[in-house]
Amino acid sequence: MKRIRRLGVFDSGLGGLTVLNEICKYNEGLEIVYFGDTARVPYGSRSDETILSYARQDVRFLMAQEVDAVVVACGTVSAIAIDRLQAEMDIPIFGVIPSAAKAAVESSRTKRIGLIGTAATVRSGAYKRTITQIEPRAEVVAEACPLLVPLIENGCKPDDELAELACKRYLEAFGGGRVDTIVMGCTHYPFYRRTFERLAPGVSFIDIGEALARELASLLPLAKGESTRVSYYVSDSDTGFGEIASRFLTVVEAKEVRPVNIEKY
Ligand code: DGL
Repeated sequence: MKRIRRLGVFDSGLGGLTVLNEICKYNEGLEIVYFGDTARVPYGSRSDETILSYARQDVRFLMAQEVDAVVVACGTVSAIAIDRLQAEMDIPIFGVIPSAAKAAVESSRTKRIGLIGTAATVRSGAYKRTITQIEPRAEVVAEACPLLVPLIENGCKPDDELAELACKRYLEAFGGGRVDTIVMGCTHYPFYRRTFERLAPGVSFIDIGEALARELASLLPLAKGESTRVSYYVSDSDTGFGEIASRFLTVVEAKEVRPVNIEKY
């Protein structure tokens, strides 16, 4: 495989920044192009066909930026469209599910594993399939959390009572020690990690971006430079992306964010 100099990373919006942050933490010196489809977020409440057609455009846009490989920093696209994207596109494309499934199986003592994700992700059964391929005895309990992405995209902070209430309601599905590990199957959810952990003490939460970032160098021959460089693109021009992003990014900054007409791709 060709050495990867420029890496494309995309999500429906802000969520992929949690993946980007982890990629930069574990793999210094990459040149990254990030795209957030802020005009069409959320993806997770849409049909499989719509998600696939959005994802195709996202990948084509990144390919037009001459990236050498693409990380699908979106649980929903990884669950619904990854096979098609990998078959159709001419560059390596990686989703977040295999590394997350492996991390969940390793973390769980009881092999009773929870999954929180978008409606499309839960409907797809993709995490469950991948987890039980690795550990056939695993039991996967899944809960769709459709309110979380809109809350996060609208800047609702983790300690806001609205966020608390929504997280609490969704975690009820796993009450009474039903699981010992929960996969945050959507890349937006690490924004609320502290809230989840406070509400479900003793449960391990898997950050799917971190799981992928730790493995990336073994999946891809990375050609690293002196310093990390990230360019940011969004499909809607004025959504406060840079401001919300800078609250969450710890390793890189989102100083300049450029608008792109994604419908052209
Ligand atoms: N970050 C996306 C994911 O990982 C959010 C999907 C959405 O836009 O609903 O699933």
